[in-house]
Amino acid sequence: MTAEPLEIYLEEREVERDLRRDVRAGLSAEEKWLPPKWFYDARGSELFEEITRLPEYYPTRAERAVLAERAGDVAALTGAKTLIELGSGSSEKTRLLLDAFTRRGGLGTFVPLDVSVSALEASTAQIAADYPGLRVRGIVGDFTRQLDRLPTGGRRLVVFLGGTIGNLVPAERAEFLAATSAALEAGDWLLLGTDLVKDPSVIVPAYDDAAGVTAEFNRNVLHVINRELGADFDPAAFEHVAHWDPEHEWIEMRLRARRAMRVRVLDLSVEFAVGEELRTEVSAKFRPAGIAAELAAAGFTATEFWTDPEGLFGVTLAQAG
Ligand code: AVJ
Repeated sequence: MTAEPLEIYLEEREVERDLRRDVRAGLSAEEKWLPPKWFYDARGSELFEEITRLPEYYPTRAERAVLAERAGDVAALTGAKTLIELGSGSSEKTRLLLDAFTRRGGLGTFVPLDVSVSALEASTAQIAADYPGLRVRGIVGDFTRQLDRLPTGGRRLVVFLGGTIGNLVPAERAEFLAATSAALEAGDWLLLGTDLVKDPSVIVPAYDDAAGVTAEFNRNVLHVINRELGADFDPAAFEHVAHWDPEHEWIEMRLRARRAMRVRVLDLSVEFAVGEELRTEVSAKFRPAGIAAELAAAGFTATEFWTDPEGLFGVTLAQAG
């Protein structure tokens, strides 16, 4: 089957309005910040794919190892008719699940949801071509906002992989998990990928690779703002920083001004002092007990918790109840 036309839940002007709102809020704050979702234009999505192949970036390989081992269990335990993937990106690892469901039979529809039109166009076309008989409905949307519009009918499995839930701070996670739970019916399933707390000497290089791909990815958000809002950031004037916060157990990516500068964006004139940092991403790492507790607070019951052989990355299967 060919993929169905992308369903656009996020209109261009809404996206622009959100970007303007985030840029205004984040760049006029005392401690400057930007949300990580603005990394992912076509170039940013490509850079992220490149990151997943870096020797230092273990999460993708570790999660793939779990899915390779457990995809059959996920298909058998859930018996899902519809697989919905939030923040799907390339859906590369999701193929392991699609393969298992294909062997087992019964999965009718795959619904990848992502903010990146370019990533979705490529992934839906390829998946539709590779899985004949599977209905592929790509949705352009924001996983924190379009949960009330998920397709209904038949047992559903929502998958949220890659550790992307770590981009949300605890209060946002609680809200997101509650909204996901509210969008599901009792008996539906959630498969959640979480990077695990471990020695920072393993985590930090994953966010500060020797080849500088993550640095380029980080600076890409400035290119996006220049292009979309006509700002005059000099991306080369910002140094990439990956900082492990041991109290919150998360990585922060930041862009540090190499010199004092003034940036024009919207109607703002944004001053950076030399050495001043702009936070661009939080990537939280989890402990098994914390994951189960956060899921329980949202009305899910975690029924399985799997890790790769090295214990780097966790995948939890939970049921809505
Ligand atoms: C796509 C959010 C899971 O947090 O590890 C990779 C993004 N940032 N390198 C992560 C990312 C820097 C990634 N997620």
